[in-house]
Amino acid sequence: MRVRDFKPEDMERVLEIEHESFKDPYPRSLLEHIHNLHPDGFMIAEINDEIVGYIIGVMRWGGTGHVLAVAVSPPYRRRGVGKSLMVNMMDRLQRKGASRIRIEVRASNTVAQSFYQKLNFRQRRIVPSYYSDGEAAILMQYTFSD
Ligand SMILES: CC(C)(COP(=O)(O)OP(=O)(O)OC[C@H]1O[C@@H](n2cnc3c(N)ncnc32)[C@H](O)[C@@H]1OP(=O)(O)O)[C@@H](O)C(=O)NCCC(=O)NCCS
Repeated sequence: MRVRDFKPEDMERVLEIEHESFKDPYPRSLLEHIHNLHPDGFMIAEINDEIVGYIIGVMRWGGTGHVLAVAVSPPYRRRGVGKSLMVNMMDRLQRKGASRIRIEVRASNTVAQSFYQKLNFRQRRIVPSYYSDGEAAILMQYTFSD
């Protein structure tokens, strides 16, 4: 498996994974917008030249990195692809000056919560009605040690 920067021609496959993975997938226009604003904030994972996952992470103010999305195509889950994407993105954000990484996860998404916990993210607080359907988000954070 290798992790590399996203290229515009990867968009169709990323959208497929997005639709397989989320009930409220990001539209193409938003993904394109994020890529235009943050070209190095979008990475994909591939196995034998097939795109199997992607991640988007950006820098916010005050040394906070923010992972906006990470998803792995269902048949390729539980093989370390998500972890590789996160480790690569966390490393990139740290080199850009992040001292912490923040993510929001649906309260019902216990798989993602276990995934982030395994990567040493800790639950910080609950944000009621964060999602458009009214579901709460759990805000989780990883802090780099000095
Ligand atoms: C969350 C997601 C990205 C994880 O990707 P993945 O490639 O399957 O994860 P990994 O194989 O790297 O798993 C790393 C660790 O996370 C934990 N984990 C991953 N999937 C898990 C599951 N289904 N149940 C419990 N723990 C899980 C495990 O501790 C795992 O380590 P292990 O396999 O050695 O036990 C993937 O399930 C996914 O795309 N889900 C749908 C989209 C989503 O919810 N994204 C997050 C939104 S905030």
